[in-house]
Amino acid sequence: MTTTELPESLISTLPGHFYTDPQIFALEQAKIFEDMWFCAIRASDVPTPGTFRTVQVGTESIIISRSRRGEVRAFFNICRHRGIRLCMEDAGDVGRAFQCPYHAWTYDLDGKLIAAPNLTRMPDVDRDEYGLKKVHLREWLGYVWVSLADEPPSFEATVLQEVVDRLGELTNLDHYEVQKLAIGRRIVYDVKANWKLIVENFMECYHCATIHPELTEVLPEFADGLAAQFFVNHGAAFGDDIKGFTIDGSEGLDEIPSIDPDQERKYYAITIKPQVFVNMVPDHIIFHRMYPMAADRTIVECDWLYLPSVVEQGKDVTKSVELFDRVNRQDFDACERCQPAMSSRVYRDGGVLVPSEHHIGLFHEWLQSKIQA
Ligand code: FES
Ligand code: FE
Repeated sequence: MTTTELPESLISTLPGHFYTDPQIFALEQAKIFEDMWFCAIRASDVPTPGTFRTVQVGTESIIISRSRRGEVRAFFNICRHRGIRLCMEDAGDVGRAFQCPYHAWTYDLDGKLIAAPNLTRMPDVDRDEYGLKKVHLREWLGYVWVSLADEPPSFEATVLQEVVDRLGELTNLDHYEVQKLAIGRRIVYDVKANWKLIVENFMECYHCATIHPELTEVLPEFADGLAAQFFVNHGAAFGDDIKGFTIDGSEGLDEIPSIDPDQERKYYAITIKPQVFVNMVPDHIIFHRMYPMAADRTIVECDWLYLPSVVEQGKDVTKSVELFDRVNRQDFDACERCQPAMSSRVYRDGGVLVPSEHHIGLFHEWLQSKIQA
């Protein structure tokens, strides 16, 4: 933090090295991404037994797959023999079992060791004990959340509490029945910026009038720069002549029938620390997950979720996707343009937050308490 006295309106950001220092990033990997609940994939990414996805969680590669009974399972992507990475692809289908490409140890879809060359000559080897190392998981909103901690934190007191803090009560999110929605579009962004720049950007709307002309057209109050997330259960109202949350304000898709009348013609946004942003509008949900890969690189996977009937009937979602895709590109471009400054001598003590951004200071306090713990 800066040591010089700041005017009352301003508080300081984190110092620049927090966004570049590999040691700080390593602490974040260990104490945040590997210790908290991390939103890994959409459950429908592994539709049938044997289908899998691999994801980076902190320093670890994790396999998420589906068992023969149809249950989602998560394992460390490491062979228990000599440690080779079992699955090299981002996604695929192993069929009935994971077979190691090195010496052919074979694990069933529950992770149990079921075969290996000469295994019968080693009757003392316990097949469960030498099975794939399991990862704690929880399904919520149709996503698979994992925790690599030996004893994961309470899901209720962390993930769910974030939603309660933002929306007043969980039911305000339940109305959207996110778990029942289908993916209408997925876009993956490879952002050359520290993950915290992306969180900070998402938490404030001071930039909206400058970089998001299309968004402020649809949500006129965003032009004032007040973050919709700041006030409990505040939704930003659509402009009077706006018909839907689309690039040109034209009609959206079929509305989610279970939403509350209060939620019509409004946009809500939630940050679920450490790596999820949820945006809710009457006809779709925009769900972002970040995968922090390095101090200066973050992959963001963004799903546009609609009623299954909208997706099955092949309705054209282009206009609603285009609005937030453009917002994402505008935001990520800004983050990428901030990243080089983080290692500049000018930014050694960081920058400043104006009053409408002061709540970002709470994120910084949270981060520091996590990595110092
Ligand atoms: Fe997997 Fe040897 S490393 S079987
Ligand atoms: Fe933005």
